[in-house]
Amino acid sequence: MNFTTITTTSLHQLNTPAIAVGVFSEGKLSHAADILDRASNGAIAEVLKAEFDAKPKTSLTLRNLPGIITKRVILVGLGKQESYRVTNLADAEATVVKACHHANLEEALSTLASIDCPDTTLSTRIRHFVSASHAANYHYDETLSDASENEAPRLKKLSTWVKRDQSAAAEEGLRQGIALAEGVALCRKLGDLPPNICTPTYLGNTAKDLAKNFPTLKAEVLSHKQIEALGMNSFLSVAAGSLEPPAFIVLHHTPSKAKSDAAPAPIVLVGKGITFDSGGISIKPAKNLDEMKYDMCGAASVLGTMRAVAALDLDREVIGLIASCENMPGVKANKPGDIVTSLSGQTIEILNTDAEGRLVLCDALTYAERYKPAAVIDIATLTGACVVALGDVNTGLFSTDEALTEQLLQAGKESNDLAWHMPMTDAYQRQLKSRFADIANIGGPSAGAVTAACFLSRFTKAYAWAHLDIAGTAWNSGTNKGATGRPVPLLVNYLLNQA
Ligand code: BES
Ligand code: MN
Ligand code: ZN
Repeated sequence: MNFTTITTTSLHQLNTPAIAVGVFSEGKLSHAADILDRASNGAIAEVLKAEFDAKPKTSLTLRNLPGIITKRVILVGLGKQESYRVTNLADAEATVVKACHHANLEEALSTLASIDCPDTTLSTRIRHFVSASHAANYHYDETLSDASENEAPRLKKLSTWVKRDQSAAAEEGLRQGIALAEGVALCRKLGDLPPNICTPTYLGNTAKDLAKNFPTLKAEVLSHKQIEALGMNSFLSVAAGSLEPPAFIVLHHTPSKAKSDAAPAPIVLVGKGITFDSGGISIKPAKNLDEMKYDMCGAASVLGTMRAVAALDLDREVIGLIASCENMPGVKANKPGDIVTSLSGQTIEILNTDAEGRLVLCDALTYAERYKPAAVIDIATLTGACVVALGDVNTGLFSTDEALTEQLLQAGKESNDLAWHMPMTDAYQRQLKSRFADIANIGGPSAGAVTAACFLSRFTKAYAWAHLDIAGTAWNSGTNKGATGRPVPLLVNYLLNQA
């Protein structure tokens, strides 16, 4: 896809196959719609009265309007102007792309990014414009013998309309949008790949490939031996149930710009990379078990985010850490009652081998201390309880650091990749008491997403930390099954705000 910006104010004289303009309910025209309406002697206002109520996610394509050179004007419903928010904006750009596909267009212009919207800037709005077309183009065909079924849509060139003095900011927004969208696509592809292909080794090779392609990235993939030498016994206890070798991945972005002495401390992202979660000896029921291939989506989001960070050559040091293995009930697997000593030195009683995410993450979180980071954010498909609490709408955000919490919530809003701040009050910690070890790996039957976060908090005392539970948001189930790429937009937005 080719993206450009267009700055002419004479939209009616533009020779392009289609121009998409936003309209609010009650006949309120956006600036671009107003320009075309005037040029066509009120043709748009007339249609709005008679047959288009501008509801969100709807569009109406008008052809051959008088006084206008473009062949098609796509009216895009934005709903009520007072309630126009980022979600509506993202939906509206997606509606434009859909209308273009329906009309089988190769080229179109969207004017939606020029419309003000709370919690956005021009460049964030343009990121949504790019994301919408990339999302529509995403096709999984890695393991289909006939990929032609998934033929790419014809749309080849999309332009966005901005004021002349904003064209530099718009170009920057396009660059960010493309980097973000390609990061999201990588995250989705890794999630969708089957677990016999997307193994810990495959994730490690993906990190190495990224480092080959992006000069700011350095990749290191630690093998079983090296992980053992470090003392990550909790992580390795999970890996022990499978013949598939584990991998501990370190992907380091160093900005290429000459750094001043006062460069801020790095931000560390930590991803859960369970490439298949059978539950282990505490084995899961068979229903929907295939979806446990998505238990590496935290790791995939780290790789996708690092790809975007590197493509942008973000002016901030960012380090991605991934603890990856399978959780299988092999002969060497963890048994309920086993006690392991984590890298931090704390002993853990494993009461349920299916609570394996926290066992691999705790060692990665301890490893993160060596960077003296400004912030550490872990991303994990950690608990079914989080799906019960928040569904597929909000990612669960757990943190006791107010500033970091606020930054992540705001980034979620701006990117339409929402998170909700969950409680992590000290009182929940008692559920993790063990008679035989420093901590148990499960709490009681209540507040499962919170006690999982509380477990991780025992390993994150050395820095500002937040935990994102993406169990409900990383993939869609049912007929629409597939990875969503979340929370790459939230993370990239957050990092852009920190750079
Ligand atoms: N990967 C799962 C969490 C999960 C389950 C994500 C379903 C999405 C959908 C995690 O490893 C797990 O099994 N968690 C257990 C924890 C429990 C044993 C305390 C869970 O949520 O049931
Ligand atoms: Mn599990
Ligand atoms: Zn899991």
